[in-house]
Amino acid sequence: MPDSVTESVVVTALRGVEDPELHRDIISLNMVRDLKIQGESVSMTLMLTTHACPLTGPFKEAVETALLAIPGVAQANVALDAEVRQHRGGSDRKPVEGVKNIIAVASNKGGVGKSTVATNLAVALAQRGAKVGLLDADITGPNIPTMMGFDAGFQTKEEGGLHPQEKYGVRVVSIGFALPKGTPVVWRGPMIGTAVRDFLHNIDWGELDYLIVDLPPGTSDASMSMVQEAPIAGAVIVSTPQTVALEDATKAVAMFDRLQVPVFGVIENMSYFVAPDTGNRYEIFGHGGAKIAAEELGLEFLGEIPLDMETRAAGDAGAPVIQSAPGAPASLAFMAIAEKIAARCSVQSYMQESA
Ligand SMILES: Nc1ncnc2c1ncn2[C@@H]1O[C@H](COP(=O)(O)OP(=O)(O)OP(=O)(O)O)[C@@H](O)[C@H]1O
Ligand SMILES: [Mg+2]
Repeated sequence: MPDSVTESVVVTALRGVEDPELHRDIISLNMVRDLKIQGESVSMTLMLTTHACPLTGPFKEAVETALLAIPGVAQANVALDAEVRQHRGGSDRKPVEGVKNIIAVASNKGGVGKSTVATNLAVALAQRGAKVGLLDADITGPNIPTMMGFDAGFQTKEEGGLHPQEKYGVRVVSIGFALPKGTPVVWRGPMIGTAVRDFLHNIDWGELDYLIVDLPPGTSDASMSMVQEAPIAGAVIVSTPQTVALEDATKAVAMFDRLQVPVFGVIENMSYFVAPDTGNRYEIFGHGGAKIAAEELGLEFLGEIPLDMETRAAGDAGAPVIQSAPGAPASLAFMAIAEKIAARCSVQSYMQESA
């Protein structure tokens, strides 16, 4: 009969397990919670830094293996939970109350799929259990209401201004909510700045792990003021594979660099097309250009999304593809990208904490 298992023995064993992204042991990271030892059985909660942890399975197994390797332990029960860490922006940027990480989706070119990416990433993170908001900052052509399934002309201008509207587990705000459909929005620079400030700071978002911001194309007033106003944790650049789009992506990266906003990486959208009838693959806009550009710019390549009818139709029908067809290739690609972005947020906040 081995000696009874003590907490200090368990803690020592768990010091040998590292977080796969943060590369530090889970005890120092305060990820071990509710540790209970009852005879030969050890139970605990592994508190992840994101609900969308890309390596959850192997990570949990590593913890269980470490527990079972302790002499006298016959049973290990590891529950999972997540606590997203707060991003700390530069000192000149006012934090948005209750919002832990703001992620901007941008490109310098129109029509490359920013809104499609923003909606699918938001729903992906919400599906994993995170608290997510989605802000349509495209003041000149808000598409989010349609893509998220709000009726034409949906209005929420209630007492006290705009309120987030929940859809597919995501809290959504769009300038479209305050304007009758079809109203041309002709805003001048200073007005846009004010609207963006209102969107960020005067809306009651509640507690959010991630706020995804769909920016208008280019370095227009709205994107600039959004970027200047908000403590953005990171920007993701959407690009199509062809050269012109890539030149534009490079410009977007330069803008974020100038404003000292970290760029998490580049997504290649409309990367390839697999014909549903024959299964043949076509690279309509070329392929892999965004990956090469990301490498040249020293950025992470976050993944590629196929061009498919389902993704387009889903957006038009008001339920992002990840919601309407979670198993579709595009949906799997969006989920993998969402996990990478969530991991980047975790690593960044951790680095800020330990700096
Ligand atoms: N991977 C894809 N497969 C098929 N269609 C797509 C894909 N990505 C985007 N689309 C479609 O392309 C069109 C443009 O996409 P989207 O509105 O997301 O681009 P955008 O960059 O936000 O545009 P804008 O610059 O006007 O804001 C939409 O009709 C959308 O459904
Ligand atoms: Mg858009």
